[in-house]
Amino acid sequence: MASMTKEHEAEQQERIRTTPAQAIPGRAGVARAHANVALVKYWGKRDERLRIPWASSISMTLDGYWTTTRFTALADPSCRTFLLDGAPAPKAAAGRAAHAINILRERYGLPTDGENSGYFLESWNHVPVSSGFASSASGFAALAGAFADASGLKDIGHRELSRLARLGSGSASRSIDGGFVEWHAGTDDASSYAEPLDEHPGVDLRMMSVMISDAQKEIASTEGMRRSARSPYFSVWVGQCEDACRRMREAVAENDIEAIGSIAEGNARQMHAMTLCAGFTYFTPGTLAVTRLVEQLRADGLECFWTCDAGANPKILVPASNENQVAAAIAERFPQARCESSGFGPGIAIGHHQNREERKEDDA
Ligand code: DP6
Repeated sequence: MASMTKEHEAEQQERIRTTPAQAIPGRAGVARAHANVALVKYWGKRDERLRIPWASSISMTLDGYWTTTRFTALADPSCRTFLLDGAPAPKAAAGRAAHAINILRERYGLPTDGENSGYFLESWNHVPVSSGFASSASGFAALAGAFADASGLKDIGHRELSRLARLGSGSASRSIDGGFVEWHAGTDDASSYAEPLDEHPGVDLRMMSVMISDAQKEIASTEGMRRSARSPYFSVWVGQCEDACRRMREAVAENDIEAIGSIAEGNARQMHAMTLCAGFTYFTPGTLAVTRLVEQLRADGLECFWTCDAGANPKILVPASNENQVAAAIAERFPQARCESSGFGPGIAIGHHQNREERKEDDA
């Protein structure tokens, strides 16, 4: 992480070398997964427990942001530790990780209580909260990979990994692969998984986040989705997403930036319009001011498009050649806002790449 001090880094390296005393031999695994931002959004669960969405979604995996996770299975059931960036994880995050680990263990017939049900989980987020990109997608994808590695699931393919990641957080299903990724909604656990739409995109696109607010979102995704399902427009939304996915597939195949951007912006508009009709919004006046500026820049001939997730900070999809101009316009109009940007990132890396030298590079 950019803000990590040398001391902190050294501490982490020390910790990673330290195998907990009661580790079950051979039961440790490591994985690194990148963050993603949806261009056609996942917003609505058909099945909350299994996180089966009502509609398919399409995302861009990001190069600049990732999570590295190490999972060690322990004999001692009383040890269930989750260290996030070297410190005990906040209670909510620890609870969510514990829940995901239980589900994964149940799935493979591994103990969820009693002997051999402990664990030592360590995660390093290279997705600073201040970047405006969410870390839950990369976090739960990396957890699925580290768990699979530790559990000796050697032949596990990306499709199954995507299903495992989905159980922790829906958007994590799309962080198993790189480039453009599509999550097929499916109707049950077996049919709901993501796969690459184009692992090596022919378009040079960047995703910028514009941090206008540090405030935590008031309505978490699951609750926001629940409320949205009560909107009179919810069924329209679901149909629109399937249509947007169909058009996005074509736009990606044709390397058509204009179409990719317009479909993404239109889809974000529909999601946020629906939340308004359900009686809430993630938008603030600042969000609207940024989206308005993006529209104005585009009207003036500078190609760029906005999207926005479940929070106030918009993202801007921009051809690499226009990035500096867009960043300058944002800086001029919103001098307090922080901008970060990223291009396309790779799929998950499990186990083998994580020798110590590479870990050092990761953490640099
Ligand atoms: C607006 O994946 O965070 O970013 O499954 O409840 O963990 P849970 O939801 P989560 O929702 C992401 C919502 C979104 C759109 C998207 O990423 O597709």
